[in-house]
Amino acid sequence: MTDLCALTPESILAGLSTRWAGRGMLLCARELPSTNRLLKELAKQNAPHGSVAVCDHQTAGKGRIGRRWETPAGEALTFSVLLRPRLEPLKAQLCTLAAAVAVTRAIGECCPGLDPRIKWPNDLVLGQGKCCGILSEMGMAGNTLDYVITGVGLNVNQLSFPRELEDKAVSLLGEMRRADPAAPALDRAVLLRSFLTHMESVMDALETDGFEAFRSEYEAASATIGRQVQVLAPAETYTGLALGIDDTGALLVRRENGRNETVLCGDVSVRGLMGYV
Ligand code: BTN
Repeated sequence: MTDLCALTPESILAGLSTRWAGRGMLLCARELPSTNRLLKELAKQNAPHGSVAVCDHQTAGKGRIGRRWETPAGEALTFSVLLRPRLEPLKAQLCTLAAAVAVTRAIGECCPGLDPRIKWPNDLVLGQGKCCGILSEMGMAGNTLDYVITGVGLNVNQLSFPRELEDKAVSLLGEMRRADPAAPALDRAVLLRSFLTHMESVMDALETDGFEAFRSEYEAASATIGRQVQVLAPAETYTGLALGIDDTGALLVRRENGRNETVLCGDVSVRGLMGYV
């Protein structure tokens, strides 16, 4: 850890009452290429369930579908959690959905007045803008799931974005200042602690009861279900109605030709949201 990182183990652990989330290894750095990448290396060296890596600035942050994830120094909350869940490999994606619910709860707790929605599978939106992206990467040991690294990039205190993101991205503070121009900057350690507390309870419930444990909460917060969507599948692009989520976390879509599709991953745009009309 370097002393330049405002997020220190002390500030994160103060008052944290989890059993496993944030315990084990807790790595805080001023700058890292990618918290996902670091935790993946540590997972291969047997780092325990619940280990966390967090940094002020990522220089080679990874987004979904090979995209980059840009993080300005000191303003966003950029971290990854190492999970060793008792889940079938086919259900590993549920860790992303669990993290989306945990971030939603943390925002609800720390940011009065904000109402985040989950755009399947891994984005959180506030109004028309994205405030959070989640990237899970898994590793196998033979036929079983060895680890899942779930990385979260949450726009917290940014008040401006690079030109290419300015009509797509929003931050928690930016949205709070719409209602209250004097809203103070948010404490990222408080947000992270709240996330870890909720992630632990959602993951524990997931291991016991599967997606049913948080399906209704996920669906109630969904920006996708019940909406017209455009699916960019590897072989074709099609539109349809998002019907729901199956037990593996896949999206069920009824195409305009009447056929039902199960979308495991890929790019799904929601009509009326983030530029798709
Ligand atoms: C996306 O929306 O494309 C997912 C973005 C995920 C970004 C986070 S930031 C912390 C973690 N480390 C990474 O390199 N990526 C994830």
